[in-house]
Amino acid sequence: MSLNILNREYPTTRLRRNRKSDFARSLVRENVLTTDDLIYPVFILEGENRKEEISSMPGQFRLSKDLLVKEAKQWFQDGIKLIVLFPVVESNKTLTAEEAYNPNGLVQQCIRMLKDEIPELGVMTDVALDPYTVHGQDGIIDVEGYVLNDITVEVLVKQALSHVEAGADIISPSDMMDGRIGAIRKALEEVKAHNVQIMAYSAKYASSFYGPFRDAVGSANNIKGGNKFTYQMDPANANEALHEVALDLNEGADMVMIKPGLPYLDIVRQVKDTFKVPTFAYHVSGEYAMLKAASLNGWIDYKKTVLEAMMCFKRAGCDGILTYCAPEVAKWLNEK
Ligand code: PBG
Repeated sequence: MSLNILNREYPTTRLRRNRKSDFARSLVRENVLTTDDLIYPVFILEGENRKEEISSMPGQFRLSKDLLVKEAKQWFQDGIKLIVLFPVVESNKTLTAEEAYNPNGLVQQCIRMLKDEIPELGVMTDVALDPYTVHGQDGIIDVEGYVLNDITVEVLVKQALSHVEAGADIISPSDMMDGRIGAIRKALEEVKAHNVQIMAYSAKYASSFYGPFRDAVGSANNIKGGNKFTYQMDPANANEALHEVALDLNEGADMVMIKPGLPYLDIVRQVKDTFKVPTFAYHVSGEYAMLKAASLNGWIDYKKTVLEAMMCFKRAGCDGILTYCAPEVAKWLNEK
């Protein structure tokens, strides 16, 4: 029985045809998510046999290097091919961040151990001084607390070289100083590290979504001035992100990153469309914390919501995603 009371024409174009069955939906699906897309950021600690849960990031831990290697074997087996190291530096913080390029520092030791035990696992390192400065800023400050660009870049170059010396595969500068990609690339060429990749945090915004990360590494209460507005980008700006990406590519970046993730997918899309280069996004600590908190309250379905978020990164143009959800996502993808 038809109730066509308005006597209108029925549609012949019916997009629902392609949505009717499982096979049809998978046939027309435009994007896929695989474990190749996952990059896992991990927090590392001095000492041995230490594992501390991060209170604002339930399910994420700070690990000492022995436990890091043990867990990394499992992540690698589950299909995660690249991890990023974030150190929790409990001593040796200074005004000038010497610990950042200590050849026997925590990061450098972890890189060596990982490359020894799991050589095929890619190791990426964060290049920035915030774990190593007493004031929690990403660089060297003057008397007013302003982060000095060019002196900071000199220290970042030393830090990057010490990571490469220890065996890092990818260097990832997250400091947002001007000219650091060019300086690091030049230094890498000089030591004949031609094949070390640089994934630049090109468009890193001054975001409140980093809160739980700063808890995790213990710099939260510490940041002098309380913000990083003089070097990280203003969330109001999009064109400026394209300018940043252009500079980083020009200076020798192999891959670029946008950070944070979900609230900044418009930037990902613009970067991908404009430059057509390997483009990544960082699904940051605050985004993870929101998903976890809502799911622990029974307000969202964690697995479905996370998988949807991951797919949205792909749809926006990401070649890969740095995410704390990586081990869980890898497990779910392997179940299918
Ligand atoms: C510091 C750094 C930060 C993050 C990655 N590297 C914090 C900051 O800029 O204050 C944040 C990552 C996250 O929130 O998950 N160079």
